[in-house]
Amino acid sequence: MPTRRVILGGLGAAGALALAGAGGRARAASSLQPAPGVAGGRLHEFEIVAAEHRGGIVGAAAPDAPFWLYNDTPFLPLRVKRGDTIRARLRNRLPEHTAIHWHGIRLPNNMDGVQYVTQPPVEPGQDFTYEFSPPDTGTFFFHSHCNGVSQIGRGLAGVLIVEGDEPAAFDGEYVLAMKDWRLGESGEWLPFYTDEGAGRAGTFGTVRSVNGQQSVEHLVPAGADIRVRVLNIDPTRMIDLGVDGAEAWVIATDGNPVDPFPLHTWRMGAAMRADIHIRTPKQGQVFRVLDYFAATPWPLATFTSGQPRGPEKPAAPKKLYAPHVPRANLAGAERLTFRFSAAAGAVASIIDAFPPGDPLAQQMLDSLCAGNRGLWAINKTQWPADGHLRLPPPLAVLQQGRSYIFDLVNTTPHPHPIHMHGHTFEVLSASKQELPRFLADTVIVQPKERVEIAFVAAAGGWMLHCHILEHQENGMMGWLRVV
Ligand code: C2O
Ligand code: CU
Repeated sequence: MPTRRVILGGLGAAGALALAGAGGRARAASSLQPAPGVAGGRLHEFEIVAAEHRGGIVGAAAPDAPFWLYNDTPFLPLRVKRGDTIRARLRNRLPEHTAIHWHGIRLPNNMDGVQYVTQPPVEPGQDFTYEFSPPDTGTFFFHSHCNGVSQIGRGLAGVLIVEGDEPAAFDGEYVLAMKDWRLGESGEWLPFYTDEGAGRAGTFGTVRSVNGQQSVEHLVPAGADIRVRVLNIDPTRMIDLGVDGAEAWVIATDGNPVDPFPLHTWRMGAAMRADIHIRTPKQGQVFRVLDYFAATPWPLATFTSGQPRGPEKPAAPKKLYAPHVPRANLAGAERLTFRFSAAAGAVASIIDAFPPGDPLAQQMLDSLCAGNRGLWAINKTQWPADGHLRLPPPLAVLQQGRSYIFDLVNTTPHPHPIHMHGHTFEVLSASKQELPRFLADTVIVQPKERVEIAFVAAAGGWMLHCHILEHQENGMMGWLRVV
């Protein structure tokens, strides 16, 4: 295994420049205190029914469309503490198969909820029970992993909060789960998939919402410290999270505690989460959590300060406990490159091989959880790689317990939020963004950008894909085999 110095020598000055700031730079010491140990948590038995639901969502838009929800609740919230065990029985009352992927949770591979890869699909009328104990605190979510474009498009996603990261409680906590809806004028579903969207930045919703509603307002105490958990559950949209009218800090990224830094704007692609600490302003003042990416900043929530919490105290960021994620040994890490690109050549439609209208064609697409367009690729490989009824070969074979640095390279003109299952990685550098080092399970790779991530490999077969779901389902997905 060549040392880092040797690699740099081999690349010459340009390569060395591009790589500077990666493995070589020492990690700054964290000021976060370790969490106290947890002793024998409790068992939570959840019953999660996936079914159609009408009414009560995106109020003023009064949609007629049938939503697909867990337990008739938009973004069904589940709350546990670190050390607890989740036993969740999924009951499928939908007209098609589904499963639950626990996004961002480091769990045993057979609980990862990827149809055909880690478990058989849960067919209509069937059940499947997930059981695991989340090793990390934080803000997570869960969703189906097959046909997500339309299942998540119809609302099939829930929020999972793992508590246990607060040395001192906040004065209040708010969850903002953001997702748009593809609704037409008379409240009907518009197509979730479009060729134009899938081939570019994704298909956007027509109605924006937070927590399934068009506006979220809260009265909060003045001079208080509140925690806001923001989730981007949209299949497409990217936001620039910011706060207007109050002091705010980012305290966790994708659920993972970070040394607090002031929130100016924080970019969040599909599937990304951020926890922020806000010091609420004086009584009578209004402040907003905004998406500054939109042409006109769009309010995710509006807060009004009411009665003061108590005597005024100076504002200072509140720190969470240090994360529990194993850190890669950067000096000894193996480096691999993954290129996210448009599909090479005219791979057009993988169903072209079938006579028109052949039912086998649809079955084949379904069995691979793929859309019918091969538009995108990772390392020139598409999902499915060869159109056969089997898992394509892994993008790479890794060794359990070993440290890796991945270079994620985007050769397309669109940003891609890249997600890796079963791991929490450290974002070491991004060639086009000014970022602190932080932990994540999904990272934006900007057009023509190279992003370095590092992690310690855990055993299993883990998906690596873009979380713009139309990209994922049209080629930009693969898997890693860790043995
Ligand atoms: Cu949130 Cu593979 O997904
Ligand atoms: Cu993408």
